[in-house]
Amino acid sequence: MPVEFTREQLGEVTRLQRLYPDRGGALLPVLHLAQEVFGYISEDVEKYVGTLFDLGPAHVHEVVTFYTMYFRRPRGRHVLSVCHNLSCHLMGAQEIIAHLTSRLGIELGETTDDGRITLLTVECLCACEMAPMLQVDDRYEGHLTVEKVERLVDRLA
Ligand code: FES
Repeated sequence: MPVEFTREQLGEVTRLQRLYPDRGGALLPVLHLAQEVFGYISEDVEKYVGTLFDLGPAHVHEVVTFYTMYFRRPRGRHVLSVCHNLSCHLMGAQEIIAHLTSRLGIELGETTDDGRITLLTVECLCACEMAPMLQVDDRYEGHLTVEKVERLVDRLA
């Protein structure tokens, strides 16, 4: 698939760039758009987005690798991001992570063979009151137990 936005998508890029005094402020939302369109942020996507901002690929690459919300490889249909920061760690995140890697048969950062689930760890998602917690796609699940995680994975089947 060629790495190029459609005319309509380029219109959205321009709209986003106009929202900021410095159009570079739109880099993050445009990267989100690129991820939505191309599935993940490959090196070619980094280069292409760089051309829209007159930025070198190294600059875009630094941004993409800084944030966990950008995927640099194809991801599964669902993404489980388990928080492993302090509160979640103290409340049992490691047990949840160990259970998920075993149940799914993958390591952190990998995707199941059927392309169903990508498993990640992330830093604090600012929902410490729900610890241990994870994000599944765009929603939070908290007060996790092994049983709760089992049901969650079953629902994603
Ligand atoms: S430490 Fe997990 S949400 Fe804050």
